[in-house]
Amino acid sequence: MKGKDLLSICDLSAERARDLFTAAIQMKRAGLSSSLKGKSLALLFEKPSLRTRVSFDVAMHQLGGHCLYLSPAEIGLGTRESIPDVGRTLSRYVDVLAARTFAHATVEALAEHCSVPVINALSDHEHPCQALADLLTMYEHKARLEGLDLAYIGDGNNVANSLLLACMLLGVNFRAASPPAYAVPDDIRERGKAISRGARITIVDRPEEAVEGADVVYTDVWTSMGQEDEAEKRRAAFRSYQVTPALLSKAARDVIFMHPLPAHRGEEVEETVVDSSCSVVFDQAENRLHIQKAILLKALGQS
Ligand code: CP
Ligand code: NVA
Repeated sequence: MKGKDLLSICDLSAERARDLFTAAIQMKRAGLSSSLKGKSLALLFEKPSLRTRVSFDVAMHQLGGHCLYLSPAEIGLGTRESIPDVGRTLSRYVDVLAARTFAHATVEALAEHCSVPVINALSDHEHPCQALADLLTMYEHKARLEGLDLAYIGDGNNVANSLLLACMLLGVNFRAASPPAYAVPDDIRERGKAISRGARITIVDRPEEAVEGADVVYTDVWTSMGQEDEAEKRRAAFRSYQVTPALLSKAARDVIFMHPLPAHRGEEVEETVVDSSCSVVFDQAENRLHIQKAILLKALGQS
């Protein structure tokens, strides 16, 4: 990380991201270690989680450290107590914090007021740990990153934002097809262009155009956590953006299908695609564990 925190993919250089992949691959082979003996991680979550919560907890356990989970009801972040005071207090007890928030400003405020490193475990704007696990998974399946073509179909959301930035950082071309009102925001595209060393961003209207010859086809839910009231409107807007076997047939012959999970089977992706032989969704989920070990070791100065 450039500073103490990992709030955005932009907090990493390409070299640092590659170092994280190397460390993650090493730890995937090695398994247990005692590098973080005596260290504690707090998970401060405003939203539900399966993968992020469990992979961080198991990562700390496998590195010899300790993890505690703080649910929204217990802490009352910004209601029972101000965000700065929660950050200052937690910094006296734990060595690192991973926060899952609605507003991105909340994770930024925690980072500002914590003396210990803060990791973004998903905000409304970014999901950097997911994007790092995704690029690691792509590397494992394709044996390279530079020059790959990724097609992102669907909502220009937190997952898409971090994925676009990670692709630009590591040389993967990013082609997105979204309904115009739900495209990846301009500020992310601008930041992506600024960090790209040759990888291209292409925005198209039709999923078929994005998928043509792609090495990777990626999608995420149409309705993210916190947007439940918009679900019906979104289902209508995204109806023609479902990833189906017919759409995948336009991609490269050895295409891989990716999704951060949880999947809304039958909405953004047809049931059979998730379970097909080109789907690597559970490799992505597993790699959350390995990349987060690498992130924790780097945040705590152990690598
Ligand atoms: N992909 C992901 O972050 O999953 P969870 O919401 O279950 O943590
Ligand atoms: N975009 C989804 C990702 C969940 C991992 C959400 O924010 O709900």
